[in-house]
Amino acid sequence: MSVKVDLYDNAYGNYQEQVYALVRTETYGEDLGQTSWVTSEESYEIPQILHLAPESQVFEIGCGSGRYALHLSEKYACRIVGVDSNVSAIRAANQLATARALSQVRFDHGDASKRLQFADASFDAVFANDVLCHIPERFQLLKEVFRILKPGGMLLFSDALVIGGLISQQEIAIRSSIGYYLFSPPGKNEALMRRSGFRLIKRRDTTENAAVIAQRWHRAREKRQQLLSSFEGNSNFQGLQQFLSCVYTLSSERRLLRYLYTAQK
Ligand SMILES: C[S@@+](CC[C@H](N)C(=O)[O-])C[C@H]1O[C@@H](n2cnc3c(N)ncnc32)[C@H](O)[C@@H]1O
Repeated sequence: MSVKVDLYDNAYGNYQEQVYALVRTETYGEDLGQTSWVTSEESYEIPQILHLAPESQVFEIGCGSGRYALHLSEKYACRIVGVDSNVSAIRAANQLATARALSQVRFDHGDASKRLQFADASFDAVFANDVLCHIPERFQLLKEVFRILKPGGMLLFSDALVIGGLISQQEIAIRSSIGYYLFSPPGKNEALMRRSGFRLIKRRDTTENAAVIAQRWHRAREKRQQLLSSFEGNSNFQGLQQFLSCVYTLSSERRLLRYLYTAQK
């Protein structure tokens, strides 16, 4: 059985450390503060898919370091609220926002499994990059997202935990070693979106992205083992490497699938 391993406290608590920035750059090609399976290509497609425009009101669920939200706001002049349950993530995000003097972006510490503190029809777009797998009541969350979107508003989210084949008990333990996870059968997300009122526009298979990112992330960290272990501790370093190897194996063998969903209210 695998033990609990920390990813997010280290990634966000050490966000400004050069070694973590180098790992991000080597993994993704561009440092947008990621801790997900979103490739740079996907990062650049998301604003088009969401039809972002100046003054669009956008909500990001699980914004992590906030770096991607800030990038979107700078590039598209949209207004963004980001929420994350990790205290260090929100601290890093607010520091970045202050340094960039971007008043149209706000970051709040919060749990997206609870009722969202926004009025009905407040947002033009809502997105969540590799976050819904961590949130217990997915149907409740989708209903809440439907409520806070304006009519015609866009939803985008990815789920890298769709079951595609046989997975052992040990693999499930390692794949879940960094926190709470929900694995879903194929078709479940589509059904939940329909029940919440959404019209599904597209489901794209991005499983390969998870495999590519996991492999690059593992390699980038392995090269810097000594320094990363001095921040994380050696057993956490090894635990995260095992987690990344497991993501690579399960995704490259298509036993776990990653889908990117786009839907409209
Ligand atoms: C895989 S990371 C993705 C972060 C970011 N979206 C990205 O692309 O790099 C998942 C994020 O979800 C956040 N998270 C987990 N459970 C949450 C919850 N209940 N409410 C809000 N955020 C949550 C984590 O703290 C983490 O930042």
